[in-house]
Amino acid sequence: MTIFVTGGAGYIGSHTVIKLVENGYDVVVADNFSNSKKEAVKRTRELAGKDFPLYEIDICNERMLSKIFTIHDIDCVIHFAGLKAVGESVEKPLEYYKNNLNSTIALLSAMKSHNINNIIFSSSATVYRPDNKMPLTEDSLTGGCTNPYGWTKFMCEQIITDTVNATGRLTAVVLRYFNPIGAHESGRIGEDPQDTPNNIMPYIAQTAVGRREFLSVFGDDWDTVDGTGVRDYLHVVDLAEGHVAAIKYATENPNGTSIFNLGTGKGVSVLELVTAFEEATGVSVPRKITQRRPGDIATCYTATGKAKELLGWETKKTLKEACADTWNWQKNNPNGYV
Ligand code: NAD
Ligand code: WQD
Repeated sequence: MTIFVTGGAGYIGSHTVIKLVENGYDVVVADNFSNSKKEAVKRTRELAGKDFPLYEIDICNERMLSKIFTIHDIDCVIHFAGLKAVGESVEKPLEYYKNNLNSTIALLSAMKSHNINNIIFSSSATVYRPDNKMPLTEDSLTGGCTNPYGWTKFMCEQIITDTVNATGRLTAVVLRYFNPIGAHESGRIGEDPQDTPNNIMPYIAQTAVGRREFLSVFGDDWDTVDGTGVRDYLHVVDLAEGHVAAIKYATENPNGTSIFNLGTGKGVSVLELVTAFEEATGVSVPRKITQRRPGDIATCYTATGKAKELLGWETKKTLKEACADTWNWQKNNPNGYV
């Protein structure tokens, strides 16, 4: 079976490509390197032990997609490609709507023309309304997003669902990721933000390695265990395995859209995460309590029942392993892939 991986040079895509190859799939990767480096693909090939094809294209370009689908007999698409920085999406909404929506539309159109009937879509916990009860289930209310990035994921889910309903032969698995952290155990690939990290784990790692002076902890007056924000941090390698499970599910349950939350089911506070990192690595992370970040919520974690029952998937790696693997990547690559 051949899997077309958009955004396969990125953080989650690169780890998933390795898992796909490990599970016997052929892989074709496409990326425009707007938020990644070719070096990531080189190392992914080394770790996978396989020289898969790479196309440097914009996924919004349906003509190029069509060309690729003429060359390769694709069975399933995993659509990782997209812009993902929440703050940047507020400043540049049109770039986000253009890139994330147009790439999804072009991909679905090209898939339709070439009779490719399986798509796995990278969605996000950010599609859930901020006022839901925890833990979030796949039936929790969506919408009310606080930023354009979140709306792009919400809208892409709708575009995919409508396309599935209209064609009757498309199978879509929408995966709503919680907070991916960690890196491949080799320390060769990992998360490499191009600018100042928005997400906490790369910020912690860059602070630990001396690239940042201190971590700003965004508020200690939330209604949580220690006043800091609580999230559901899952190891990126577990998340990669979730995609392998999703492909299997799509092929065994054709036609229709299925939605799964992928997370650990456990909430971890900012201070608990920092402590776990320090304990796992022996490196201290200077921190200062600062103001709350606009748009943040106190707590966000998932229920895990649906993914366990239907995908047969659950996280295996511990928070400590995720911290140790993040550090292994960061200390070996203090400036990322550069
Ligand atoms: P990433 O930025 O590391 O990877 C995305 C890749 O897509 C990059 O390599 C980028 O160059 C590429 N890309 C972007 N637009 C493209 C286009 N038009 N054509 C071709 N390539 C394009 O991000 P990631 O963390 O690996 O995330 C992958 C997906 O998962 C994204 O869709 C993201 O929104 C989603 N997601 C990520 C998180 C997270 O915290 N990392 C959480 C939930 C959902
Ligand atoms: C986690 C916790 C912060 C940075 C975002 C996106 C979401 C999804 C995952 C893509 C919060 C605190 C953070 C820092 C801090 N991405 N924090 N200091 O906010 O759960 O979700 O990434 O889909 O869409 O919104 O993740 O890593 O930014 O924050 O104290 O420097 O860490 O307040 O409590 P978040 P995050």
